[in-house]
Amino acid sequence: MNLLVTGGAGFIGSNFVMRMLARYPSYRIFNVDKLTYAGNLENLESVESHPNYKFFMADICNRPAMERIVRDHKVDAIMNIAAESHVDRSIQGAAEFVQTNVSGTNVLLELGREYKITRFLQVSTDEVYGSLGPSGKFTEETPLHPNSPYAASKAAADLLAQAYHHTHGVPVMITRCSNNYGPFQFPEKLIPLMIVNALNDKPLPVYGDGKNVRDWLEVSDHCSALDLVLHAGKPGEVYNIGGSNEKNNLEVVRLILGMLKKPDSFITFVKDRLGHDRRYAIDSMKIQKELKWKPSVTFEEGLKKTVQWYLDHRAWWERIVSGEYQEYYRKMYEER
Ligand code: NAD
Ligand code: TYD
Repeated sequence: MNLLVTGGAGFIGSNFVMRMLARYPSYRIFNVDKLTYAGNLENLESVESHPNYKFFMADICNRPAMERIVRDHKVDAIMNIAAESHVDRSIQGAAEFVQTNVSGTNVLLELGREYKITRFLQVSTDEVYGSLGPSGKFTEETPLHPNSPYAASKAAADLLAQAYHHTHGVPVMITRCSNNYGPFQFPEKLIPLMIVNALNDKPLPVYGDGKNVRDWLEVSDHCSALDLVLHAGKPGEVYNIGGSNEKNNLEVVRLILGMLKKPDSFITFVKDRLGHDRRYAIDSMKIQKELKWKPSVTFEEGLKKTVQWYLDHRAWWERIVSGEYQEYYRKMYEER
């Protein structure tokens, strides 16, 4: 397989690229990433000289650049992982979210149509379903009701992807996963931000009352599900992915503080996020039954391992906090 992965320098993308190179020695992996603030090629240092791996610094919205890659490397499958991904940034301004998440996806779908791509996996999120009350779970049949500009842009991309399947027969599969955590997550998202702040003895900003609930999944379990859907998913179908690990934010933050032996007094309640979704919970029975996927990491063990990873990779996140992390690779690719 000649597999194009977009957004491979981000959190989930880099974990996915490493998994695929390790598991499929005959595949060629082409990673396209714009290297926005969230893209960090240091995540992929362990594979950068792998013979079956090639990186391109490019914007998925740039149709000629994307077309050259798809054509010249005879790409037969596309995994669209690239996105603007942070809800708080989408509240500050949504233009880049619409550009990358909607227009960028459209460019890839067009190429999927023109070059008769055999598999197209659109990596989406449970946030397209909106917010739940105290009970119930999102199924694949739950109507889309995105609340944040981020979620709205992802829902728009999902609808476009479904339309390209229906109208043009592009073999699109969509996955909608719950909140991920694990190695290489950019420290703007809840779990890595709280770990980094606690290690720096800084306040841990908890929005509102801290009772918002997220359904947490370790990133390697997300990647194993993506791998399965890429190979065995049915075109036109949506697959929810989640590990039934519902926790409210305060519980998560307290667990992190406990693991780092830091006091709860680090917790600082701050003004709530605008339009803050109260609860997400995923029903993943479809992928479990049809593709025999199941998560392998419990939340407690996954969180413990993740905390340890941030302890062991202090230099990685300190270079992000200081802003040094992109200097070397950006310069190298910009000069090409
Ligand atoms: P991330 O922000 O860590 O990584 C996104 C990557 O996309 C970065 O490397 C960035 O440089 C790249 N990118 C952004 N705009 C681009 C463009 N125009 N062209 C090329 N590359 C571009 O995000 P993540 O957390 O790894 O999420 C990856 C995907 O998974 C997203 O589509 C997100 O919606 C989805 N998702 C994430 C989660 C989660 O909890 N993190 C959960 C479910 C779904
Ligand atoms: P986040 O990691 O941004 O993921 P998402 O909003 O996509 O679910 O946030 C997870 C939860 O943590 C969400 O309810 C918002 C909350 N949160 C805080 O309380 N403080 C923070 O500093 C951040 C980044 C998030």
